[in-house]
Amino acid sequence: MTQIRPLGAADIRPATDLATTLTEYFNEEGLSQMARDVRVQRGLVAVDDGDQVVGFVTYKHHYPVSAEITWIAVAGSCQSQGIGTSLIRTLEDHLRQDGQTRILQVKTLAETVEYEPYARTRRFYERIGFLPLEVFPTLWNADNPAKVYVKFLGP
Ligand SMILES: CC(C)(COP(=O)(O)OP(=O)(O)OC[C@H]1O[C@@H](n2cnc3c(N)ncnc32)[C@H](O)[C@@H]1OP(=O)(O)O)[C@@H](O)C(=O)NCCC(=O)NCCS
Repeated sequence: MTQIRPLGAADIRPATDLATTLTEYFNEEGLSQMARDVRVQRGLVAVDDGDQVVGFVTYKHHYPVSAEITWIAVAGSCQSQGIGTSLIRTLEDHLRQDGQTRILQVKTLAETVEYEPYARTRRFYERIGFLPLEVFPTLWNADNPAKVYVKFLGP
C-alpha cells in the first residue's frame, strides 16, 4: 500500500536517484536543477510498505495565491497505478488548506515537439484537470518549448 507524506531531508537522495532512472524524461541539466530544487523546495513523497520512495512531487509559490509543481516523478515499475494522481491530489488538498493558494501551474514539454513520453505526461496532467494556458517556445531553450498548464484550486 502506497502512502503519501511530506518530503524530508532523508528522501532527497532516493527521490533524485529515482528520477535518474527515467532517462526518457530527464537529461543531465534537468537532473542537476532538480537536485538543487529538491534541497530547498517543499514536496511530498509516495512510499511503499517498506518506506521506500516510489514517487515524489516538489513545488514552490510565486505568489501566496499561486504555486507551481516544479518536479514530479514516479518510478517506472510503479507508474500507471494511480501514484502520480495521488501525489497531485494530496498536494492540491494541502495547498487548499493553507487558505491562500488558488492557482496551481505546471510546465512541461509542448506538443510542438513530437515525443511520445511527454505526450503521455501531458495526457496525465489533462486527465487530472489541468488546462493548457500557453506555449513559451524559448523559455527553456528552442529545442524544449515549454507548455504551461494551470488548475484552479478554489474560489
Ligand atoms: C507523469 C507521472 C508522474 C504520472 O505518474 P503515474 O503514477 O504514472 O500516474 P497515474 O498512475 O496516476 O496515471 C497515469 C496512468 O495510469 C492510469 N491509472 C491511474 N490509476 C490507475 C490504477 N489504479 N490502475 C491502473 N491504471 C491506473 C491512468 O489512466 C494513466 O494512464 P496512461 O497510461 O494513459 O498514462 C509518471 O508517469 C512519471 O513519472 N513520468 C515520467 C516523468 C515525468 O513526465 N514527469 C513530469 C515532467 S513535466
